[in-house]
Amino acid sequence: MNGEPEAPELARRLAGRVEDLERAGVLVVPLTRAHPRIVREAIVVRTAAGEPRAYLNECKHLPIPLDAGSRQFFDHGKTALMCGTHGALFRLEDGRCFAGPCRGDSLRALEVTCAPDGTLWVTDPGTDPADRPHRR
Ligand code: FES
Repeated sequence: MNGEPEAPELARRLAGRVEDLERAGVLVVPLTRAHPRIVREAIVVRTAAGEPRAYLNECKHLPIPLDAGSRQFFDHGKTALMCGTHGALFRLEDGRCFAGPCRGDSLRALEVTCAPDGTLWVTDPGTDPADRPHRR
């Protein structure tokens, strides 16, 4: 031990199975809440190459859920994530905004892993103040 406090171990949250993601196109995963009345979620999606990606369900423009509660996460072509409030578009591959008020910003990426049994797991970032949204 070097006298420094140990970083808390981050929890992993079960997102579902690979086939669930293939069928549904998106999986929504509850995360640790910073406030008991404010929902905090991850969304797991697939890239065009079929690779899973996980992002915090939160727009970069305002600190509100990307889907604004609608459970509609994609643009019409299902080729990008879309903010339900002002229509910003985010690449599936890296969460980067390429159209809309937050162009150039990126969704908060979360670690997602696929276990040998086909289950997908998201690492919960916890409630680190650095993860909190900022207003513009
Ligand atoms: S709140 Fe998402 S683009 Fe404005």
